[in-house]
Amino acid sequence: MMKRSLSLVCFVMALVAYPGAHAQQQPNAYAISSAHELATQAGVTIFEQGGNAYDAAVAVSAALAVVEPASSGIGGGGFWMLQSHDDALSVMVDGREVAPAAAHRDMYLDDEGNVDRDLATNGGLAAGIPGAPAAWVHIAEKYGTLPLSVLLQPAIDLAANGFPADEKYVTLLAMREEVMNRWPETAEIFMPEGNVPSVGDIIVQADLANTLRTLAERGHDGFYTGEIAQRLVDGTRAAGGIWTMEDLANYSVKERDPITTEYRGYELISAAPPSSGGITIAQILNLIEPYELSELTRVERTHLLAEAMRRAYRDRALYLGDTDFVDVPMDVLLSKAYAAGMRTSLRLDQATPSSMLANDPDVRPEGNNTTHFSLIDDEGNMVSATLTVNLLYGAAYVPPGTGVLLNNEMDDFSAKPGAPNAFGLVGFEANAIEPYKRMLSSMSPTIVRSPQRVAVIGTPGGSRIITMVLLGLLDFIDGNGPQSWVSLPRFHHQYLPDEISIEPDSMSAAEIEALEALGHTVTERDRTWGNMHGVMWDLMSNELEAAHDPRWPSGGAVVVPVTD
Ligand code: GLY
Repeated sequence: MMKRSLSLVCFVMALVAYPGAHAQQQPNAYAISSAHELATQAGVTIFEQGGNAYDAAVAVSAALAVVEPASSGIGGGGFWMLQSHDDALSVMVDGREVAPAAAHRDMYLDDEGNVDRDLATNGGLAAGIPGAPAAWVHIAEKYGTLPLSVLLQPAIDLAANGFPADEKYVTLLAMREEVMNRWPETAEIFMPEGNVPSVGDIIVQADLANTLRTLAERGHDGFYTGEIAQRLVDGTRAAGGIWTMEDLANYSVKERDPITTEYRGYELISAAPPSSGGITIAQILNLIEPYELSELTRVERTHLLAEAMRRAYRDRALYLGDTDFVDVPMDVLLSKAYAAGMRTSLRLDQATPSSMLANDPDVRPEGNNTTHFSLIDDEGNMVSATLTVNLLYGAAYVPPGTGVLLNNEMDDFSAKPGAPNAFGLVGFEANAIEPYKRMLSSMSPTIVRSPQRVAVIGTPGGSRIITMVLLGLLDFIDGNGPQSWVSLPRFHHQYLPDEISIEPDSMSAAEIEALEALGHTVTERDRTWGNMHGVMWDLMSNELEAAHDPRWPSGGAVVVPVTD
């Protein structure tokens, strides 16, 4: 009798725990959230033509490259997390930029051995070999169902016919006004008569439309060999760069196994190296796992998370880099035992100064650059993608006749091991510059799931990406939907500088005082950060939800039912 009752209980528990987790389950709708409604519309157009999530991801990526050039582009790179509901596909397509062959570890140091920040962030020498176009072609050919020419058509139309500049485009361009005027070929496209355009002005990018058409017709080779490649090399070298035709011809995307971990019944699927995102998020989750977050006050929770962030970001600086070049002790860093060891120094009544671990270098400003989109198709295929040209409008340089605004991703390497980059992140030997190496990234396209719910989540925001995604996914785990994740007030600790930075007006004076009493320095920034895009699939109700960050109203989030 006892035995029968127990098996009945187990059966009922199984029903409660796994009510809708059948691999055949499909949402019968699709959802997209991206940073620009025209990019979201590009994805809708592809779904309407029968494309799947991976097709739509190519179309959204290419459209973002046109309408949000501050954040990503054909001259940049990114990580595309592709995941099917039944796990038949779970891969990170790594379209990260690589250092050109002539790159070397001291290339940005001046005669005194200091990092020349202008050289590292502006013009031809700042650019890595782009990975975005190779990734679009790879995803379309391997995982898509529609021709590349169809997937790129919305972006080609937006580039050829133009799109209206919005508040965000104009605001971010104004922040790079001086450098965007340095090169006539850049200014001609983005700075008519040397001025930042007004909201509503139509931005046409005719050369970019032609480059996209060539890519659509010739695939990978259309960008990485032939006439476009020659123009990219000639232009980059004329602007102080070191690219060669071989550098472009040698570029290839990599497929990586995502970083996965379990946290309190949820599965995290996130970005693998050369991103630091997945490992750092997993380490933080491992560190905080034994604590009942719901029982902590807001101050206690902020303190605990900041202490976990501090420790994980320290490991990021010490150990993480491109695993094709350096041995990253991933198994150790991801192990629960390692987290348990690290937890022994973590106190709930006192902050641990980062200076006990290393010297404190300069503080540097941070940006809202990079972009992210999340989407799910009607069969439950998911894409979480974070794309970048690094700082706003990348290197601010367009090789003549290409329309390709180059990234300044080389600044994500440690230009001088131990010195901070533009995000104030210190880096050590693992991330030193080497030919053909991929620079360490914070981009963290992520999927989190339980048998009941799935979240597709990510955001731009430099070194703060990791902590934003962490806060968002904890909110998902707390039971909230995407509108809540993307709207949450944000705080961040990255080991060095040793401070908790918070968004304006996001904490009371009493909360700040309480954190200071624990030994923290709390710095209230004058601007918010991030631009999060989330999609959720509730497996119990089979409903989708999508939300974009209220901080940037130009985002587009849609859920569209599909009926046969
Ligand atoms: N360039 C920003 C990142 O890759 O994290």
